[in-house]
Amino acid sequence: MNLNTRRSILISPGLFLSLLVISISALASPVSPQVSTALSDKGMVSTACPEATAVGAKVLERGGNAVDAAIAVGFALAVTYPTAGNIGGGGFFLVRTKEGETNFIDFREKAPLGASEKMYLDRWGKVVPQSSTLGHRAVGVPGTVSGLYKAYSLYATLSWEELVAPAIDLAEKGFPVNQELARSLRKLRKYMEEYPGLKKFQRPDGKPFLAENIFYQPQLAATLSRIAAGGPAEFYSGETARLIAREMEKGGGLITLDDLKRYRSVFREPVSGSYRGNQIISAPPPSSGGTVLLEILNILEGYEFSGQEFFSAPVVHRMIEAEKIAYADRARYLGDPDFIDIPVERLISKDYAARCRSAIGESAAPVKNITDGDSQPPESEETTHYSIIDSLGNAVAATITLNGAYGSKVVVEGAGFLLNNEMDDFSVKPGVQNIYGLVGGKANAIAPGKRMLSSMTPTMVLREGRIFLIAGTPGGSTIITTVAQMIVDIIDFNLNPQEAVAAPRFHNQWIPDLVYHEKEAFSPPLRADLERRGHKLKERSDIGDVQLILVNERGYYGVSDPRGGGRSRGVRKIERRLN
Ligand code: GLY
Repeated sequence: MNLNTRRSILISPGLFLSLLVISISALASPVSPQVSTALSDKGMVSTACPEATAVGAKVLERGGNAVDAAIAVGFALAVTYPTAGNIGGGGFFLVRTKEGETNFIDFREKAPLGASEKMYLDRWGKVVPQSSTLGHRAVGVPGTVSGLYKAYSLYATLSWEELVAPAIDLAEKGFPVNQELARSLRKLRKYMEEYPGLKKFQRPDGKPFLAENIFYQPQLAATLSRIAAGGPAEFYSGETARLIAREMEKGGGLITLDDLKRYRSVFREPVSGSYRGNQIISAPPPSSGGTVLLEILNILEGYEFSGQEFFSAPVVHRMIEAEKIAYADRARYLGDPDFIDIPVERLISKDYAARCRSAIGESAAPVKNITDGDSQPPESEETTHYSIIDSLGNAVAATITLNGAYGSKVVVEGAGFLLNNEMDDFSVKPGVQNIYGLVGGKANAIAPGKRMLSSMTPTMVLREGRIFLIAGTPGGSTIITTVAQMIVDIIDFNLNPQEAVAAPRFHNQWIPDLVYHEKEAFSPPLRADLERRGHKLKERSDIGDVQLILVNERGYYGVSDPRGGGRSRGVRKIERRLN
């Protein structure tokens, strides 16, 4: 496809004259016709959910900074985007201040103290189906409230109560369910008998929500009001903690009051590297995201892509092979850095990349130890990402998750919120695939108090020391390859932000030995070439839901992926100046 022609159509000078909030046909996308884009020089919010985007933009318009907005959006998503938005899960914030300091807030869930390495195996050592994905025993100790408060303590300019208030409003006064949420909630109905707390996700008359029905969540509003008044102490040792512990006892879960009291979110040093002169800043362990991303990009940097056609066989083949090597390292080395030593510096070094590259030939490298070469793509990859920047240049890339859609399906009785099923992100048994088909080993084995390995990849790209891209996506194991491909599309192939977000995606994660690709991502000649090289191709559903902000001399350009129902919105006018 000739994306350069499309770029000249999409970025016309008129587009940049003033703030625009428009939807443009995603000419480059075979997937869906709409990309939500916005331009502003005063601030930008891109999230997977229009109501949450509005909350973030209003915080910026009232003079809050990007972290204020990110905290308010985090709480709002727990109300309006229950597939992944949460207070019962976890996530990561990558922050860059206007002074250029970066920080990473890790509020990943932890295994309860009662957890053990073989807790999901039967007495014959076989994994008990769904034991790590459904129900009370699948739940990790939630981190979100602690993490949002940690961000608040260091960076916020508005009060905590002000930042939780929009979410309380959305829960109390309700919000109109959109088509996407109505469709997703219908899929949840099959779990309602076994997990009756889920009945809050149907109308009071017991019927499924239709688009435009108003969804009220009074219990969640009450919980959020307690959190607004009492902060994390309320969630981890107050009434909410007691309700979580009671829910766990009722359902045979492991999380106790002691687990909740001991939970701490932490600051970590982001991982940092470069790609063709651009600085890449991303998620450190316990996410595999930044390390695997840099490993892929370092390998690709040794190839000359300029002059090559976008989506040509040599380029796609090299990207697949780089992904394969990096995911094999993920399985071997990565886990919680508080429990294991991880050779991050070596894995993200240019020397190591050069050695990896020398092993890449013109054919697909054979994959050893394949457990199931005919694996199905994952059933559910629900996480959500949002990107925010304020008028001064403070920026946040945030990815949060319950893991699978609606997490463990357990709603805390009396508190009205869902709990995660993040325990499945541990390697429940070496060599056995999790819901994303990922395998792991000892590095990511379950241990009490340990954080499970993540693929979440909130990322910033700097050009000449200034922010160029803020990006991330949901998608389980595909998160990292989606972010990598988008960076390559923009840096190597000069795709504009809409094109890069809409561009077709593919994914290889070493095991299974398959190249997943979106429908019509590969043209027939490209397919034939890749198959000749030995790649096994498998079509799957859409990959990812990127929320991207690109910064250039004209301002902040927000793009929400056409694959989801997200919205990018620019700030129009700031009521009072930031400090
Ligand atoms: N639960 C998805 C991830 O953390 O990668």
